[in-house]
Amino acid sequence: MKVLSIVGARPNFIKVAPIHAVFQKHRDMESRIVHTGQHYDDQMSGIFFDQLNLPRPDYFLGINNGSHTEQTAGIMLQFEKVIHTEKPDMVLVVGDVNSTLACALVAAKEQVPVVHVEAGLRSGDRRMPEEINRIMTDSISDQLFVTEQAAVDNLRKENIPAEKIHFTGNVLIDSLVRYRAKASELKISEQLNLRTRSYVLMTMHRPANVDNEKSLRQVIEIIKCVAGDVPVVFPLHPRTLKNIAAFGLKNEVERIRGLQIMRPLGYLEFLNLMDNAALVITDSGGVQEETTFLNVPCITLRESTERPVTVEVGTNNLLNTLDKEVVRPAMESILGGSPKIGKIPYLWDGQAAERIVAILREKYI
Ligand code: UD1
Ligand code: UDP
Repeated sequence: MKVLSIVGARPNFIKVAPIHAVFQKHRDMESRIVHTGQHYDDQMSGIFFDQLNLPRPDYFLGINNGSHTEQTAGIMLQFEKVIHTEKPDMVLVVGDVNSTLACALVAAKEQVPVVHVEAGLRSGDRRMPEEINRIMTDSISDQLFVTEQAAVDNLRKENIPAEKIHFTGNVLIDSLVRYRAKASELKISEQLNLRTRSYVLMTMHRPANVDNEKSLRQVIEIIKCVAGDVPVVFPLHPRTLKNIAAFGLKNEVERIRGLQIMRPLGYLEFLNLMDNAALVITDSGGVQEETTFLNVPCITLRESTERPVTVEVGTNNLLNTLDKEVVRPAMESILGGSPKIGKIPYLWDGQAAERIVAILREKYI
């Protein structure tokens, strides 16, 4: 059975790696990696192949930048050729990025079964490009693997037949479980002069937070407020870096005392910093889940989350505002010793990829 697994953006590499590793265990399965090129800097792409033992992609489509339509359509045109050459038995997509939807759509039209891993998540906010990608991908997928009960409920509400939905756990957490010990051996905190549990780690890249000057300025005010009390480490996503420069905010950010900004970190370096942080402030999807697993407090600066289990069961605090006067007390309460106590969500145990592949084998071999 030949499977083409699609990767394009940073979180995709981390989710596909454990699934590819399980495919490799079966001699009757052939796993090929198709990289759309959506992310291309070494720190957003190449480093993950090295650190997560992913083989170099069999196909690199080289589609990056441009509008959503240009990106999605460009990937579709190239991926159609790959399908014609490879004639796969199945196409596996993960997450909710443009590469996910583009390749799922091509496969469905070519009548190749589509497998969606991390299906069913919904923020309820269609202004997010990811929400459109999620809804569309799920509606054309043949097998849908989900990470939490809310996702099952969402899919059932959208009339996806129950037999297509499989609650198998979280492949992002599979990678974390596999690489946590290795990450802990790094000396990154010493290199950055940080003491365990006495710094805040930050990531920010959602268009709603960084694409307009007003919200980006509000984010910077929050950083100033946090960095006044505790050291802040902030690896900058390329979208955020570009916008800081475009809005003329570079000098202001560089002058904030207590803040260390840097280029995006490798997976192991970032995992190490998450695991030892006092608090993580983010708008990332994956980071909300990873902090919940690690039992590290997390503040999410977004209006909604498609991952409600991280709030209901885990350590995530969803603050529906960029007002520093609201973020400050939330942060102080966590750093002052009253963090929310979380639990690890059901089936987030490092074995999701094993379950997924077992179900695919049962259905298709
Ligand atoms: C994309 C996903 C988002 C995901 C994020 C993970 C969509 C719609 N968005 O957002 O869901 O959370 O990836 O990080 O698919 N750039 C570089 N170098 C790179 C990659 C990007 O400079 O290696 C710059 C490019 O100028 C690009 C911009 O960042 O135009 C945004 O990249 P893009 O992939 O379009 O969106 P992300 O914000 O990364
Ligand atoms: N991550 C990383 N280096 C960084 C920031 C994040 O390796 O500098 C990892 C993080 O551990 C998580 C993933 O990237 O596994 C999340 O990706 P991102 O926030 O870009 O996308 P999202 O999850 O929001 O779609």
